[in-house]
Amino acid sequence: MSHNILILPGDGIGPEIIGEAVKVLNALKAEGSLDMELQFAKLGGSAYDAEGSPYPESTQKLAKASDAILLGAVGGPQYDNLDRPLRPERGLLGIRSHLELFGNLRPAVLYKELANASSLKPEIVSGLDIMIVRELTGGIYFGQPRGIETNEDGERFGYNTLVYKESEIERIGRVAFDIAMKRDKRLCSVDKANVLEASELWREVMERIAKEYPEVELSHMYVDNAAMQLVMKPKQFDVMVTTNMFGDILSDQASMLTGSIGMLPSASLNASKQGLYEPSHGSAPDIAGQNIANPLATILSAAMMLRYSLDQGELADRIEAAVQTVLANGLRTADIYEEGTTKVGTAEMGDAVIAALAK
Ligand code: NAI
Ligand code: MG
Repeated sequence: MSHNILILPGDGIGPEIIGEAVKVLNALKAEGSLDMELQFAKLGGSAYDAEGSPYPESTQKLAKASDAILLGAVGGPQYDNLDRPLRPERGLLGIRSHLELFGNLRPAVLYKELANASSLKPEIVSGLDIMIVRELTGGIYFGQPRGIETNEDGERFGYNTLVYKESEIERIGRVAFDIAMKRDKRLCSVDKANVLEASELWREVMERIAKEYPEVELSHMYVDNAAMQLVMKPKQFDVMVTTNMFGDILSDQASMLTGSIGMLPSASLNASKQGLYEPSHGSAPDIAGQNIANPLATILSAAMMLRYSLDQGELADRIEAAVQTVLANGLRTADIYEEGTTKVGTAEMGDAVIAALAK
């Protein structure tokens, strides 16, 4: 069965880094190991320029019909003065809610060749390989009621509602357990069940799902302790699952343990395993068009796409191994360069990954 992949280059460095990921996918197609059709569409600022909307209907149609979507990044200073509904970020929020992408996967991997990039001591982080599964469409960021009001005494108050339905916890729980099955079979659920009722229910549902996954070892941790453990002994974690807000904070914290924004992929999945895959970084307008951006986060996002939406885990493994090889060979884009290594541009890095794949 041919996979239908939608490519959204986006803005800034988006087209450059996407170009390298597309080269990698095409190389796999050319050798006969990947049956796919690529389609291209616009999202973000480039879509606004062409069609007056950051998530135009033409893109919506292709997105809905695709098996998976690979996105570069959106945004740039030239769009900062647009009205909110027209801004590039709205394109991103639009596609996330349109496709109900509730499962956000944020890996934090530190390649041993880049151990010096971390703010932590190499012996604490070297070999780090964590997957954070964050609930993306519920919780306190979306709960109603919310607002800023004035009480009877004339004092203003702001409030939000933390609410999780059982079904929302179940579906993100299953995503996390499924991923744990494909990895080290250890899952740590992060909550604040000592204080929050929503967390109490969260924990109860995770325990219930665990019965269906007897091979997965489930543990629970309070979020404050998890934040502490992440910087103290990060390698104790394999897969973590948590709520929207806790996941927002912990995934940023974990990603910075690796020190290199140009290296981290991400995925956002829905119930039918359709997914949007994109690097964790933005459109880097400061370096756009110069062939110096690091394409590895986008290439690794393509690997995640193969693993989680297209069931091509072995191809994903091959891409990840090729990235490892290229780093071991000493090739570095400017953002991860250190003395004694070889500085290469965006396109050279992509070519090197393809060469390593072939071996
Ligand atoms: P950014 O991630 O684009 O850049 C931060 C810094 O990291 C810059 O110095 C940049 O040059 C560098 N950098 C980022 N990616 C890199 C790569 N692949 N290789 C080498 N260096 C890289 O974040 P910033 O500057 O806050 O935002 C720039 C634009 O991107 C804004 O318009 C923002 O709204 C947008 N953005 C888009 C996101 C998305 O599409 N998912 C996420 C974050 C920001
Ligand atoms: Mg964040």
